[in-house]
Amino acid sequence: MLSFQESILRWYDENKRILPWRDAPSPYSIWISEVILQQTRVDQGTPYYLRFLKTFPNVNSLAEADENSVLAVWQGLGYYARARKLHEAAKIIASGGNAFPNTYDSLMSLPGIGPYTAAAIASIAFGEVVPAIDGNAYRIISRVFNIADPITGNAARKGINSIAKEWISKSRPGDFNQALMDLGATICKPRNPICSSCPLQYGCEANFLKNFHERPVKISKKNSKHRFLIFDLHLSNKKVGFVKISQGNIWRNLFLFPFTEYENEELFVREVERMQEQGALMLCRDLHVLSHQKIHFNTRMLKSTIKPKGMVWRDLNRLEQTPVPAIITKILTHWEYKISRLI
Ligand code: ADE
Repeated sequence: MLSFQESILRWYDENKRILPWRDAPSPYSIWISEVILQQTRVDQGTPYYLRFLKTFPNVNSLAEADENSVLAVWQGLGYYARARKLHEAAKIIASGGNAFPNTYDSLMSLPGIGPYTAAAIASIAFGEVVPAIDGNAYRIISRVFNIADPITGNAARKGINSIAKEWISKSRPGDFNQALMDLGATICKPRNPICSSCPLQYGCEANFLKNFHERPVKISKKNSKHRFLIFDLHLSNKKVGFVKISQGNIWRNLFLFPFTEYENEELFVREVERMQEQGALMLCRDLHVLSHQKIHFNTRMLKSTIKPKGMVWRDLNRLEQTPVPAIITKILTHWEYKISRLI
């Protein structure tokens, strides 16, 4: 009988996806692919990867580019902070004589690289034996071992980390990590896993118990309340308008854009449509999930000279002094490119 590791690698050799960063890879191209794929699906990210490498074929060309041209290639991918950090990291590498950091630890010191990305690059580009544990790895391992602890808790994470460390191939760590990514994306899928084609089907407890839909265990969000907000993003002269929230549990003492809350989805949607009919510039409908609330929101951009009561202006580039909640950071980073053009 094959071990899990052997089964996974054999499956990968026969079924791996043909992806452009797997063709003649270099540390640079692997790094770019991993950063693009941090928050983007493979099918969406692939054209961006190809365009990025064509425009900036090596670290030097990226380091020497001006930021606008980097952002221009990135346009449409979202999360522009990723592109800025990539650019910053290229400058750091180039200033050190172009030696690409070649270990997990040295990769971790670069901007924009967290544990997963560092492990992916270190294993794929340099053969370091370190598991890259993403959502796919969590899902596969929690199904194979029928892990019933919630995936967000320490117990499950620790257990899965130690299994991944045990499973990983010492001779082909990069292939092993990518095998789990491919297996998770094509077979051990979140909704409709194709267990009959899975190389781990005979050793998988969730397949045996047919409870794969319940693994990994996620904390139920059933009791969460839905809220509907429209933010007004007042922009003037590189400044953004905020109001300080004085009440409530989640945002007390934090700064938000002024907003109006609607009782239900219908009123919220109707108001967004009314604003759009009047020519308002809306970002787009988005969802922010907190532990007990699901916040549906939209954002109206206003170039304003008037200042609503209670609003204060803050310099967009110096928000360190202004405590803002994650929903605001999300709007500012996700739509950075659009906002910076209007400001
Ligand atoms: N997702 C993130 N990195 C990947 C890779 N190297 N191959 C396939 N999917 C990925």
